[in-house]
Amino acid sequence: TDVRLDVITIFPDYLAPLDLSLIGKARREGLIDLRVHDLREHAHDRHRTVDDTPYGGGAGMVMKPEPWGEALDELVGGHHEEGAETGAVPHLIIPGPGGIPFTQQTARDLATEPWLAFACGRYEGIDERVYEEAAERMPVSVISLGDYVLNGGEVAVLSMVEAIARLIPGVIGNEQSLVEESHEDGLLEYPVYTKPASWRGREVPEILLSGNHGAIADWRHEQRLRRTAARRPDLLSD
Ligand code: ADE
Repeated sequence: TDVRLDVITIFPDYLAPLDLSLIGKARREGLIDLRVHDLREHAHDRHRTVDDTPYGGGAGMVMKPEPWGEALDELVGGHHEEGAETGAVPHLIIPGPGGIPFTQQTARDLATEPWLAFACGRYEGIDERVYEEAAERMPVSVISLGDYVLNGGEVAVLSMVEAIARLIPGVIGNEQSLVEESHEDGLLEYPVYTKPASWRGREVPEILLSGNHGAIADWRHEQRLRRTAARRPDLLSD
């Protein structure tokens, strides 16, 4: 396998879409070894409790440290668990709105790593000591998809895994499609058209039918600049 991905969550079913489409195919072909783990298997009371009230008060619940500690022990191997022979550890990614921004560059960097583990938090977050202890054993990154709040890390993991996995060689058939896309070179993508040339009174821009490849390339570059200026001026200013 080229890359191993582990996801720890209290909602394994949330990750079911990773069986589909190109990621599902890459898994079946053995390019990606993706394993989803249920955090509740590491909660040992009658109700399999994973959360508790926050010390110091405040709204909501906090994820207890013990199930996370045990789940991560199992992953990296304490004594006889898997991974113990090699001493290999994953890069632990904890999605959260308080993390560093996830960008195409983050996806590119993470796509070069042989082993990533994702810890999905719920409620108001995970007990801070879990981050501290994990960071003594493996690289840990708290990463945010953007400045908005999701209910938990699962949907963020779906996004991150898709962005990362499609950069792994062999996952996408047409590798050229990876270079000609938004965020690969700092500009948004140009508009695209297909047949019919006329649809509901709207014509495909004539230049695209001209066969003049130099002129088409110039037009597309101009479109990219205009679109980036209109939608994402921040990309042009820095
Ligand atoms: N979990 C909750 N909100 C999130 C966000 N914005 N990015 C990543 N993970 C999250």
